[in-house]
Amino acid sequence: MELGLLNVILWCSLFLGVRAQAYKLKEPVKITDANWTSVMDGEWMIEFMAPWCPACRSFKEVWEEFAGWGHDLDISVAVIDVTENPGLSGRFLVTSLPTIYHVKDGMFRQYSGSRKTTDLIELIDEKKWSSIEPVAWYRDPSSVQMGVLGAFFKAAMFFRGIYSTLTEVYGIPEWLCYVIFAVLTIVVGLILGLLLVLCCDSVFPAKYIPLPPQKIAYNPSAIPANDTDLIDDTVNDSGDQKSGQESGDEDRESQEGAGEPDSNQSTPVEDSDLRKRQLRKDQ
Ligand SMILES: *[C@@H]1O[C@H](CO)[C@@H](O)[C@H](O)[C@H]1NC(C)=O
Repeated sequence: MELGLLNVILWCSLFLGVRAQAYKLKEPVKITDANWTSVMDGEWMIEFMAPWCPACRSFKEVWEEFAGWGHDLDISVAVIDVTENPGLSGRFLVTSLPTIYHVKDGMFRQYSGSRKTTDLIELIDEKKWSSIEPVAWYRDPSSVQMGVLGAFFKAAMFFRGIYSTLTEVYGIPEWLCYVIFAVLTIVVGLILGLLLVLCCDSVFPAKYIPLPPQKIAYNPSAIPANDTDLIDDTVNDSGDQKSGQESGDEDRESQEGAGEPDSNQSTPVEDSDLRKRQLRKDQ
């Protein structure tokens, strides 16, 4: 009954062309990063706006008029300034202005219909909002991931604030600002990386991966000192005959690689390996 009456009053005032609404203009409730959770209770209509946006300025009076109807419609009409609350523009993923959300009992719906007072009133009065799909779970402003996104937006705004302070107040040239930010980014990255490594280390202590068995079996002190075959000739690579021999070996190896199938000769390395194995077997 009351709703029907509302309509009659509304249409009469419009028909008469009297700005009867003027006396009903009301400041919408301001919502900030700090108290946005109050929209989780009851029914709300929220407008995201910015002072610099022309479409928001022309919409301002309609929204205040609509706010004037808030009491009769039993809803709260709110406004969020995205320039002051970047966290909320991230949380609600506001990509255009003005953006209007309908919230009822924690269900968020983005309204993108007509921006006339009468249509807004009908939206609530006739529960037309129920035909709008609620935002998907992954976009739910009260979810963790959207909170994280909000934090990113906030951080971005914070750094922008620092940037403009540096350039405007301290007169630091733009390029120097970028250098400062780049250095800070790298330093912070290094510190975070170090912390991550330390955390990982304390949670998963490093395990020593055992070497393959043959390598462990290799024990230089167990080899007789006079076993010249086992002297590592890469160590004293100072141009004696050995280096010549080595290059010869390499030549032979590369020839073998090129495809010399029936070469029965084995390189000294293989030879020594063989001898070592036989030696061990004998022991
Ligand atoms: C949120 O905080 C702002 C600024 O402190 C205040 O004006 C507004 O009334 C608060 N809104 C709610 C819903 O509590």
